Amino acid sequence: MVFHKQDSLKTSLSQYVSKQKKIGFVPTMGALHKGHLSLVKKALKENDVVVVSVFVNPTQFDNASDLKKYPRTLDQDVTLLNTLKGTILIYAPDASDLYGEKVSSTHYRFGGIEHQMEGKFRKGHFDGVGTVLNLLFRAVQPNKAYFGEKDFQQLQIVKKLIEIENLPIKIVGCPIMREPNGLAMSSRNKRLSSIQFEEAALIYKTLKEVQQHFDKESIALLHKLVAKRFSENKHLTLEYFEITAIKNLKPAHRKIKGNTYRAFIAAFAGDVRLIDNIALN
Ligand code: PAJ
Repeated sequence: MVFHKQDSLKTSLSQYVSKQKKIGFVPTMGALHKGHLSLVKKALKENDVVVVSVFVNPTQFDNASDLKKYPRTLDQDVTLLNTLKGTILIYAPDASDLYGEKVSSTHYRFGGIEHQMEGKFRKGHFDGVGTVLNLLFRAVQPNKAYFGEKDFQQLQIVKKLIEIENLPIKIVGCPIMREPNGLAMSSRNKRLSSIQFEEAALIYKTLKEVQQHFDKESIALLHKLVAKRFSENKHLTLEYFEITAIKNLKPAHRKIKGNTYRAFIAAFAGDVRLIDNIALN
């Protein structure tokens, strides 16, 4: 069932709330793939009804052309969701139904993690993400909401958002789904040429290499290794590579015992921006 208006979604949800049914929520920007579906499947297992929102949120894009080119495939998305067993409500609003007249973002302080990586390279991105999720959470009022580790920094931001906005929602992180060649599934992959798609496998291949050498090699050497791998590939341009402790997501310069580390890559294939990350210890 597709809802374009918050009011009708809320009316439909109220029958579940009155029966104390559990509501799961999977926010997306559509162009759904198996990565999104893995979140929906997990949500269906753990809840009585699942809301999937499909909304390309303008306030989280710092690049007008990226926003314009972002794939929009609502009919296909609905067909795909209908292949799953369970009760799914799809919420596909336009901007005014969520934001009202003024489509703008609230400024958030997420304890510093908003300034790292995606926050550094995409100005205002996490204010936009925080704003739209706050609006969506208030509309849906789920018990649990599901997010992919593909956007690991976003997952940490959402956990902070819940604290800041004091929302009684459990945030559930889900593993990264990959193409057979290792490339993390992404709606943006639809924009890759077949050569770019094959070459983009380098991102995960390099992350795996970093993971293998993490114990024995210095962080400085791993940075050199990644720079070399990308300089050797003419289809991909590295935007950043970072190794960070997950507690603060700041660039780590040396390993400290007891910290949990992850490696992160953002790279361009033509004008398509791709991100990925991996656990290191
Ligand atoms: P979108 O990129 O559509 O992703 C929706 C959710 O699917 C996110 O939680 C994302 O991490 C997850 N996801 C995407 N690709 C995945 C993969 N390969 N494996 C596992 N999970 C994956 O992230 C957003 O939309 C937006 O920022 C949003 C949270 C909806 C706010 O607008």
